[in-house]
Amino acid sequence: MPDKNQNRFQFSFEEFNSADLLQEKEQELVSKAKETAETAYAKYSKFSVGAAVLLENGKIITGSNQENAAYPSGLCAERVALFYAASQYPEVAVQAIAVTALKDQIPLEEPVPPCGSCRQVFVEWEKRFQQPFTVIMAGGKKIIRIEKASWLLPFNFQSDFL
Ligand code: THU
Repeated sequence: MPDKNQNRFQFSFEEFNSADLLQEKEQELVSKAKETAETAYAKYSKFSVGAAVLLENGKIITGSNQENAAYPSGLCAERVALFYAASQYPEVAVQAIAVTALKDQIPLEEPVPPCGSCRQVFVEWEKRFQQPFTVIMAGGKKIIRIEKASWLLPFNFQSDFL
C-alpha cells in the first residue's frame, strides 16, 4: 500500500540580548571566544572567528580560524578548538562551545552560525562522547543558545550508516 507521511523537524533555542543573562561558566566561555578571535590567522577573508570549548572536567580550550593561500587547507575556529581539546583530553566529553567573530576587526552584531563541516564534527563529537553539548553563538546584540549541537544538522551522516 503506497503511503506518504508529512514530517517535521523542530527544536527550541534561547535568544538573549546580553551575555550577562547566561550562566557564569558560559559567560566565561563567550569572553574566552572573543579574546581568541583576536588570534585568528584570517589574512584572506578578514573574518576572524574565535571558539571556546568547555570540557566536562571544567577546562576551557580555545581555537581561532587558520587560513591558507590554498584556501581549503585552512580550518575553522570551531574545529581547531574541538580537535585540540580532543587531542589533549581524548576521554573528556564536551559540555559547550561558544563562537564569536570579527569582520575587519569589528565584532559582529549578529551571531555567527557554524559552517556545515563544523556541524558534521559536532555530530561526531556528540556520538563519540555519547552526550549532547550546547552551542552558543554570540553576536554583539544577539546571543543564541542551542542545547544540542546535532539539532543544527538534521539528516546528518553518522557512523551507523557505514
Ligand atoms: N569560519 C570559521 O572559523 N567558523 C565558522 O563557523 C564560519 C567560517 C572561518 C573560515 C574562514 O577562515 C573564514 O571564517 C571565512 O569563511
